[in-house]
Amino acid sequence: MDAVSTITKVDPAFRADVLAGLAAPIRAIPARWFYDRRGSELFEEITRLPEYYPTRTETALLEQYSGDVAALAGTGDAVVELGSGSSAKTPILLRAVEPCAYVPIDISGDFLRDSAEALRTEFPGLPIHPVEADFMHSIPIPEAVADARKLGFFPGSTVGNMVPGTAVDLLRRLKQSLGCGAFLLIGMDRIKDIETLIRAYDDSAGITAQFNLNLLHRINEELDGDIPVHRFRHRARWDEAHSRIEMHLEAVEDVAFTVGGERFSMRAGETVHTENSHKYGPRDARLLLLASGWRVVREWTDPAESFAILLAEAEPIRFAP
Ligand code: AVJ
Repeated sequence: MDAVSTITKVDPAFRADVLAGLAAPIRAIPARWFYDRRGSELFEEITRLPEYYPTRTETALLEQYSGDVAALAGTGDAVVELGSGSSAKTPILLRAVEPCAYVPIDISGDFLRDSAEALRTEFPGLPIHPVEADFMHSIPIPEAVADARKLGFFPGSTVGNMVPGTAVDLLRRLKQSLGCGAFLLIGMDRIKDIETLIRAYDDSAGITAQFNLNLLHRINEELDGDIPVHRFRHRARWDEAHSRIEMHLEAVEDVAFTVGGERFSMRAGETVHTENSHKYGPRDARLLLLASGWRVVREWTDPAESFAILLAEAEPIRFAP
């Protein structure tokens, strides 16, 4: 590839996050950089793994309870989905709430356009306004739906990627963006036995390992790196203090490499922290939402209580003791 097209490919935010993350005393790269085209495909594969229960559990919950959501939140709202990805679960909700418009927001533009196209075929009369944006920075609401009441849709326990303070910041901004009378339907993974959790993030087919290691391939390709990917291994561990699964990339021997013209080295056993996946008890979920201005109206879980979807209502601003 020639120099010009290499330069135009580089996302400056990706470059900044990777260079800062590799130089930090505790090395870490934000999880959203997993989702290039290959990473998005690998994540789709993860959702079909026998060990990865969240997607199929949440899908079943939506199939069973979307009618109740529509009864409680009403119909005809504009549905605004955060991190829509392939939008696989969206049709279930859209059929029940019969929205006036659908606004998928995703950082991955290709994926966003493909899935918007598929939905247009399935819902011919529905106005769809895809927004290519990093919702961690801003949540732009298209002018066309400015006056509609909003139903936010934030499935997949994506909120679990954020530490609590960051999650509250995002959920508060979401309330601001969605405006008066908004509802939010959010999926949150539950705390459960550690073996089940670890298996979901370290599957026997090694797909999650490929998903994690793909980040290093992406860095090499897009940031002109020479990281020896085969000298790293995937690690998934439970952090009790934070109630979260952490994913790391661990150097199996001493390594030195260049990324974006800068030199880095790691000792054997040192890691780059690549993802947090927080898990919530029932009270944790409610408190996180309350702290963000959202009051839980109803919560649904599967019989094993492994995953929850919660419907919350934007709390009106009022003076309270
Ligand atoms: C898309 C963030 C919800 O944390 O379970 C799956 C991503 N990472 N396997 C999760 C993921 C490893 C997933 N989220």
